[in-house]
Formats: sequence, C-alpha cells, structure tokens
Amino acid sequence: MGPQRKLIVALVPLLVALLGKCQSPDMLRSLPKNVSGYLVSRDGQFYVQPALENQSSNGERGVENESRANDEESWTEGGEESWRSDKEPVDGDDEDDDESWSSRRGSLWWWERGTRSRGFSIFGMLESAVGMVGKFLGGMIFEDEEDIESKDSAANYRGHQLLRLTAKTKKQVRYLQQLMTDEPDDVKFWTNPVKDKATDVLVSSRLLNDVKEFFREKGINYVMLMSDLEKAIKSQNPRMPKERRQDLFSSQGHAMTWKRYHRFKDVMGYLDYLASKYPQIVEVVSIGKSFEGRPLKIVKVSTGANVNGEPKPTIWIDAGMHAREWISVAVTTYILNQLVEKNENYTRLLDITDWVIMPVANPDGYEYTHTDDRLWRKTRSNHDAEPQDDTRQAPGFLHVVSQYTKWLFGGSCEGVDPNRNFHIHWGDDKIGASTDPCADTYQGPSPFSEPETRAISNYIMKNKKFIKSYLTMHSYSQMILCCGLTRTRPADFDDLMNIANKAKKAIAKVNGIEYRVGSAAELLYPTTGSSDDWAKEIAGIKNSFTIELRDRGNYGFLLPASQIIPTARETWAGVRVIARMSAAQGNNT
Ligand code: ARG
Ligand code: ZN
Repeated sequence: MGPQRKLIVALVPLLVALLGKCQSPDMLRSLPKNVSGYLVSRDGQFYVQPALENQSSNGERGVENESRANDEESWTEGGEESWRSDKEPVDGDDEDDDESWSSRRGSLWWWERGTRSRGFSIFGMLESAVGMVGKFLGGMIFEDEEDIESKDSAANYRGHQLLRLTAKTKKQVRYLQQLMTDEPDDVKFWTNPVKDKATDVLVSSRLLNDVKEFFREKGINYVMLMSDLEKAIKSQNPRMPKERRQDLFSSQGHAMTWKRYHRFKDVMGYLDYLASKYPQIVEVVSIGKSFEGRPLKIVKVSTGANVNGEPKPTIWIDAGMHAREWISVAVTTYILNQLVEKNENYTRLLDITDWVIMPVANPDGYEYTHTDDRLWRKTRSNHDAEPQDDTRQAPGFLHVVSQYTKWLFGGSCEGVDPNRNFHIHWGDDKIGASTDPCADTYQGPSPFSEPETRAISNYIMKNKKFIKSYLTMHSYSQMILCCGLTRTRPADFDDLMNIANKAKKAIAKVNGIEYRVGSAAELLYPTTGSSDDWAKEIAGIKNSFTIELRDRGNYGFLLPASQIIPTARETWAGVRVIARMSAAQGNNT
C-alpha cells in the first residue's frame, strides 16, 4: 500500500485517538505531575513508561564529563583521541558483581521518545503524521525516484564516532555483547566482539560520553578512527550532475565511471551496454527479482564452449551482498570492464576460463544506502506480516494499536543479512548470526528466506558442475578468507591457502597494499549461513573465498571514490591469479 492510501486509512483512528477516545492518552494523563511519560510498544505490548527523572533537555543525563570521569590517564596518538587503561585486565569468575551496561542503564532503549525504532510516543506519532503529509505533498512534486540524491528523512550520522576497541578478557567481551544487544540503535558493532581482536564500533553522539565512560570503567581500550561519520559520508562520493550523466551517455553509451560510486540504475545500464556492444562474448541474464522488485542480474562472459560444447572452468564473482560495501560493486564492475572492453589483453585467460559476475547482489539494500541510510547492511525485506508461531496470546486492543502504529510508522525492523541466510548450518548455535530482526547479522526467519540469496543459490546449484571458483566481494579489512563455519580446517585447506597466498602477492605487487590470508573463523569469527561456506560445502565449489577489500579502517565503508581505481587494479591482479590456478585444476567431475 502506498503512503497516500496509508495516510487516508491512518487519519481516521488517529483523529479518534487525539480526541481522547483512545485508552492511551488517558493513561498518559494519569501519570504523576512533573513526570513525563512515553507510550511504549515493546514485544507487541503497549504501555506507558515514565521518563527518566534526571534527564536534562539537551539529552545529557548529568553524567560526568569525560575529562573528570576518572583518574586513569587519557592519551592521544597522532592527534586522535584514544584511551588505554594502565592496569592489566584479568579475567575473573563468570559471576561478577560489576555493573554491566544494562544494569547501569536500565532499559535505555525506550528513553528517547519518538525517534527509536522500537519505541514511540503520541508526540512522535503526531510529528510523523505531519511529516507524512509533507512527504505526500513532496511526492506529488518529485517525478523520478532515482533522481532523489538523498531524502530529508535520511539517517544522519552527525557527531557519530567510529571507535576501535579491543577486549582483552572474556569478561570484557561479555560487556561488549551486552552493550551490543542493549543499544542496537546507538552502538553499532561493525564486527562481532572477539577476545584480543580489534572491533570497530560506531557510537551515536547521544551516547558517546556514556559509552566512552563505560569503556574506561571496564578497562576496555579504544582508539578513535573517525570523529564525525556524517562528514566522511558527505565527502566520500562526488555528486554527478545530470548534464554530466547525459554527456557520458552520448560520448560512451553508458554513465559508468570509476571515479565515483554509481547508483543501481547506472550499473544496470552498463551491463546492458556491454551485452549490446559485445554480444559475442557477453550475455546478461536476470536470475530473479529482489524483495522490492529490482532485477537480479548476472553477466556471463565467455569466448566460447570447450571441445565438448560445455562451459569452461567458470569463475563466479558476486558483490554488494552487503549494501554499504560500495567498493565491492565498483571493483566488480571494473573487473567486467577489463574482461570485456579490454578482452584483447586477456585472450589467454579467456581461453581457459568463463565468468559469471553479479555486481549488485542486494539491489534494494544498495539503493537504500544511497537514499536513506549510508550504513545499511542487509536486504530490505519485511517478514513482520508473515504468520508467527506464537499464538498463545490473544491480541488485545493495545496489541492491535501497537501493530497498527508499527505498520503506519514503519517501526518494525527490516532486512536480513544475506550472508547469514544461506542454507548451511543455518540457525545452529547462533554463532555470529542473530535471531533478532533488528540486528545487523539477522539470519532471517528461515534459510533462503530472501529472494536474493535464493536466486544465487538456485543458479549456482544448476551450474555447479562448471563453477571452479566462488568469489564474494566484501569490505573492509584487506583479507582473503576461506572457511568461516568452524575453526576446524577442511582437508584441502593448504590448497586454498596456496592460491590465496599467490593472489595476495599479486595484489601487493600493484600498489604495495598488504592483504592477510586465512580462515574467516580464525581471523574474524565463525558464522553460520554464509555464502562462501555454502558454496564450498553444499555446492561443492572447491575454491571458495571471501575477499575483504580496502581499507583497514581509515575510511572503512566510506572509502573515498579516488581509491576505486587503485583498489580495482590490485584486486583484478589477485582475481586473475585465483582464476588461472582454479582453471589449472580442470573441470569438476
Ligand atoms: N565480513 C563478512 C561477514 O561478516 C565475513 C564473512 C567471512 N566468511 C565467513 N563464513 N565467516 O559476513
Ligand atoms: Zn560484507
């Protein structure tokens, strides 16, 4: 249902509620004087929660300023803020009497009215209703969705900081896990916390002081990587004026460049351009549709069948499975550009290999990072409307109101992590995958619940006989990874590492950029439902790698567009090594 119809359907009960006929405002009125309260929806229930008493109007809850927070020293390195405890942390017993984040904060998630995804207030509802009328009127003026650079309602990361921290003890890991589940909106972990491994954490300006104080209290060291995410977002990708796009179209037949990150429309336009300009070697096929109905396109590049009329050893590459990892899409389209438009340079390679390339594996998410939230990771599906197992509770009036407002204001959590949604140990012991729909690593309601992962797996299963390498492009951290399911290495681990090490050398030769090579379970963390493991274990594709592109955290996901070409050139060198070595193994039997 479009926003216009939603608006009309919504207005009637909203008016009723405002006239005081609804139970909720009455409940609000019954709160003691001087205590403001918020109407809260939690786990499908609906109730009034009084606001914190010591909350000041600017959102700083009288916590101590960091400069006088404690007697441990602060230090700076290279002009950037960091903090290191001078005490060596030791692991205590499992039961500890220290305050954890949650016990200290109480249930903070509902604390700020109206703006959080899982809580809302009557005032928030009003604000949103007014906003929606504005949007509706605005929608009548704008014609083309694709022309919208970013919406007014887009997520804003002003003052959000990226911190790199390292938990040195199991206890500290537990604190971080607690923080991760308690504050999903304000503290975003870009990787799972693992003992003795650095993890990058994005902290909102709202909780910055509290969270830093919490880290210091717990002896968790941190360094600030970025002081203002919004600034980095703004400067990452130069805007392309409309006239420039038109110039590009008339001069080269498509709008792609590798000087900026492009919208989905430009990428698809480039694929179609390749297919029409190089019909002898390029075929574009749509293998399905995304949740929001965008085509899931793959490009097949082949100079012809082998002597038996079969495909040659085939290299699969997908990119953009994680929406915010823009560099992966840019690099993969560059690889296509080289392979097709410079094919005379790669005749020997094309003699021994075929290629299947999917530059945007998660188009809905990718578009969403351009229009709404630069740091979105997942798909954009919504599984809320699907029937749920839990029928124990009859839906009461408040439940219905809560569902209605969720639906109206989009208060539920969207999206599934495609790289936790593949049918490989899906749902097992939940290591590195979440059952919480609001989490960034949400595994989905069932394996292959996403049309995107389903399309990829169907295609690969049908063609697995010829696919010798499965490469999935991600960012960031500069790693070539295999094997993320368990720390137990597969029997052919050395074969894989031999290939990965040669690729790593080829990469370093181009611009001196160092990659690390190894098992994802060892270098990062084990996960269930990931595509690399699915490709190896279920589809039987021997050379299955995740490639984590630049950089190591200076810019992270916000790698400037000026680094596209150098990153693409070195990656292409590495990918060619993997392709040649896989082809030398011959076709699968
Ligand atoms: N950054 C990737 C992710 O978290 C790494 C995946 C590596 N592979 C694995 N099976 N763990 O999805
Ligand atoms: Zn990724």
